[in-house]
Amino acid sequence: ENKTLPFEAIGEGTLHRLVDAFYHRVGMHPDLAPIFPDDLSETARKQKQFLTQYLGGPPLYTNEHGHPMLRARHLPFDITPTRATAWLACMNEAMDEVGLEGPVREDFYARLYLTAQHMINTPDDDE
Ligand code: HEM
Repeated sequence: ENKTLPFEAIGEGTLHRLVDAFYHRVGMHPDLAPIFPDDLSETARKQKQFLTQYLGGPPLYTNEHGHPMLRARHLPFDITPTRATAWLACMNEAMDEVGLEGPVREDFYARLYLTAQHMINTPDDDE
């Protein structure tokens, strides 16, 4: 087999630009900003580590922080369906901004969509 890892197809530079573009939007989003720290630099640093390994690259997140246990790490926050939609919208716009296109984008986004649904732990206020 000779399959290129998504991490290699996207490239570290583009991945890092994606994460920065993403948190720039998160920090301005009315549904998301209230649950995130004001300074998103450490959050972005961890997300670069996490997405590197999520895409098949080296296990940078686990090496520094242990098993991701992503759903458990999100339990302190109210992750509503509205916030999951907002998170994914910020990611979609960030993908546009960095010029990520084609099947590698579609596959990455599809995985993020499923992971985002898995993070939901709180209903919307009107439910
Ligand atoms: C951390 C929100 C989905 C990966 C966080 C934090 C918040 C948050 C508030 C804490 C930030 C901090 O204190 O630094 C959300 C919301 C989501 C969502 C509203 C909507 C569904 C996701 C998804 C992924 C992800 C889909 C992965 C694909 C992470 C990682 C961290 C994190 C790796 C850092 C964990 C750590 O502290 O070590 N998220 N998140 N999140 N999130 Fe999410």
